[in-house]
Amino acid sequence: MSRTIIITGGAGFIGSHVVRLFVTKYPEYTIINLDALTYAGNLENLRDIENAPNYIFEKVNILDTAELERVFKQYNPDGVIHLAAESHVDRSILSPLDFVYTNVIGTVNLLNAAKQQWSTTLNPSTPNNSTLNRFYHVSTDEVYGALGETGFFTEETKYDPHSPYSASKASSDHFVRAYHDTFDLPVVITNCSNNYGPYHFPEKLIPLFINNIITKKPLPVYGDGQYTRDWLFVKDHAVAIDLVFHKGKNGDTYNIGGFNEWKNIDLVKLLCKLMDEKLGNAAGTSEALITYVKDRPGHDRRYAIDASKINKELGWKPSVTFEEGLAQTIDWYLENTEWLKHVTSGEYQQYYGEQYANRG
Ligand code: NAD
Ligand code: DAU
Repeated sequence: MSRTIIITGGAGFIGSHVVRLFVTKYPEYTIINLDALTYAGNLENLRDIENAPNYIFEKVNILDTAELERVFKQYNPDGVIHLAAESHVDRSILSPLDFVYTNVIGTVNLLNAAKQQWSTTLNPSTPNNSTLNRFYHVSTDEVYGALGETGFFTEETKYDPHSPYSASKASSDHFVRAYHDTFDLPVVITNCSNNYGPYHFPEKLIPLFINNIITKKPLPVYGDGQYTRDWLFVKDHAVAIDLVFHKGKNGDTYNIGGFNEWKNIDLVKLLCKLMDEKLGNAAGTSEALITYVKDRPGHDRRYAIDASKINKELGWKPSVTFEEGLAQTIDWYLENTEWLKHVTSGEYQQYYGEQYANRG
């Protein structure tokens, strides 16, 4: 069956893996990558598929309602996979409004564009169980807040966001559900844990530390380093998105996670060891770069996902171990130092200089 799908944020980290998967796996689909190309969006992430006949790029900001209307009219998509967002917690602490604009208002703009385009099929009095149209919102486990030493986030866990980033994502999730409940828009939401892998922007823990090890800069570990995250290889996330887009239940939420919890300091020490091996350094060279710095305000202590629903209902589970995924990731960064140099120049470099250089 041929389909036309708008993927927002397709030039970013996760979005580029989703676009690549859909363009190559479904040659009969038309995939429109809609992205504003902020500091985090980069068409170099898609060089290998940019000439595919079923791929179209549209440089559009989701805050521009006229442009959204134009794109929806022009392509008449039957699906939307929405990843475009401001995604970095530290930036949300410095500039919360940017997160309100893109993550909340941008999402509502997209919901309105889809609602308008699909208006003839929507009818709140006869619930829409069709998967003919689908608005898929890609969200985060951070909406659930922080866990103590034990327990997991399930799809029933109450929302309790703490950072401006997670508050904006929680708000966008609520709007997506509201459009389902009020206007019968066929939606599905996933809440995923920390991704890692190729094309990850080097402001986030793993790629930042890989880059700093390569360039012999300090590795700034926040607080006591005992914060815990659940890590998932980005290609496994893309596979889960494919499954949920095609087979997820209308109106439902699915948690996605790696069954792979790591305390930050343990992960950083493993990364240092693997980097020393790959770079031929003496043991302990990279660990010597570890520097404990002031904690992130409102830092959530622990995230852990119970991904049993998507496993039981759709048969998804991660395909690579953390050791395999991390080794592949390190290899990719070592083979793509030009990409690293490019994305850490210009606007990002300015930001890095101002906000990160003097932490301690
Ligand atoms: P990213 O920052 O790497 O990419 C975001 C993309 O969105 C970029 O290409 C950027 O240009 C685009 N964008 C930003 N603002 C835009 C706007 N106003 N209009 C159009 N495009 C815009 O983000 P990511 O890490 O790939 O995350 C993608 C999505 O997945 C986000 O919604 C994020 O909340 C969610 N998520 C991320 C993770 C993770 O670990 N990275 C985990 C769970 C969920
Ligand atoms: O849980 C899913 C979320 O994971 C996504 O929704 C976000 O978009 C994504 O950015 C990520 O958020 P985190 O805040 O968990 O990721 P980050 O890489 O920024 O930080 C991971 C952990 O490492 C966190 O406990 C903070 C810590 N950290 C981070 C940086 C950048 C450090 O100790 N030092 C650092 O320099």
